Amino acid sequence: MINKNYLKLPGSYLFATIGRKVKEYSEAHPEKSIVRLGIGDVSLPLAPAIVEAMHKAADEMGSTVKGYPDYEGYDFLRQVIAAGDYTGRGLDISVDEIFVNDGAKCDSADLGDIFSTDAKIAVCNPVYPVYVDSNAMAGRAGDYIAEKGQWSNLIYLPCYASNNFAPEFPAERPDVIYLCFPNNPTGATVTKAQLQEWVDYANKVGAVIIYDAAYEAYITEADVPRSIYECEGARTCAIEMRSFSKNAGFTGTRLGFTVIPKDLIRDGVSLHMLWTKHQENTMNGVSYIVQAAGAAVYTPEGRRQTQEQVAYYMKNAQTIRTALADMGYTVSGGVNAPYVWLKTPGQMTSWEFFDYLLEKANVVGTPGSGFGSCGEGYFRLTGFGSAENTEEALRRIREL
Ligand code: MLT
Repeated sequence: MINKNYLKLPGSYLFATIGRKVKEYSEAHPEKSIVRLGIGDVSLPLAPAIVEAMHKAADEMGSTVKGYPDYEGYDFLRQVIAAGDYTGRGLDISVDEIFVNDGAKCDSADLGDIFSTDAKIAVCNPVYPVYVDSNAMAGRAGDYIAEKGQWSNLIYLPCYASNNFAPEFPAERPDVIYLCFPNNPTGATVTKAQLQEWVDYANKVGAVIIYDAAYEAYITEADVPRSIYECEGARTCAIEMRSFSKNAGFTGTRLGFTVIPKDLIRDGVSLHMLWTKHQENTMNGVSYIVQAAGAAVYTPEGRRQTQEQVAYYMKNAQTIRTALADMGYTVSGGVNAPYVWLKTPGQMTSWEFFDYLLEKANVVGTPGSGFGSCGEGYFRLTGFGSAENTEEALRRIREL
């Protein structure tokens, strides 16, 4: 017998659908040059310090045997992560609370495995689709109601322009709450005080927050928290996910990590212990070469070079935001995040605007409704393109 929950998914993965549409269009119009500002994939090559570390690690593997890596990640990488992202910033996270993985997407899907199939899940709306789809595949989301564009058993936290795209507490008590700040797709953030309220709420009702901080490197404003562990009490309610994809260009290299504090206990059981079992039983770690490359991100050179890349993408995002606002679009995001979230013109749906931009300007973005029903009438553009392509896309949109 198969897992029939998979059949409930209404379509394919959002970015796979977009990729297919763009491929069809470009096969039909091979003469058109398409500018892609859809998926948040990087356009700059890996920084020199990272490449050098990869070469060195590859040479080492030719002279010494490096077999299966540690399940939770090599100590040399966990040490620099703990020091660079947590203890060095005054946050109480220890080396053995860090689990290295091959990118945040897998863990954002797999973390559900340590919760009951009856656990009640809360997600923002709009939201990164992986949280929803993975819970649907595990049977926690109920049934997809096409007319509403929502799942029957999920708790939705609507994020509107009127609440600055920040979620509010739900009427119903959730067991697990997915939060992502800086947000994908809206680019919105919450202040430390707002995040503290969510931590207090989770501790009060016994919920667990799965906090996706993949875009932390893009924060520019001082009152925006870089980690949920800046909030008091987060060690007893929060799991944090980080990625090397967006801050260091590892989308094609694959590396990330998840933090589970040992104080996080539910049903009298340590979630750290459950996730250790999960990792030991289902994966064999991340390659030595990639982890060595990841450690190079924390060296002074690696930091400087990757920060330059982040600044380059942020400049694109700011250019998009300013140019679209000048053209009369209603825009948000692009200040602490590489994503700009815009209202589609007139009464156009998100997909109508997607087709319009693709066909008339040969520019690819991401339809807001692909992130959930509250994303309808919105559209996402990313700052991850090259500066030239970003300018070109804006020129074409302006001409339209
Ligand atoms: C996005 O474009 O939303 C992201 O790149 C997708 C991802 O990180 O998996």
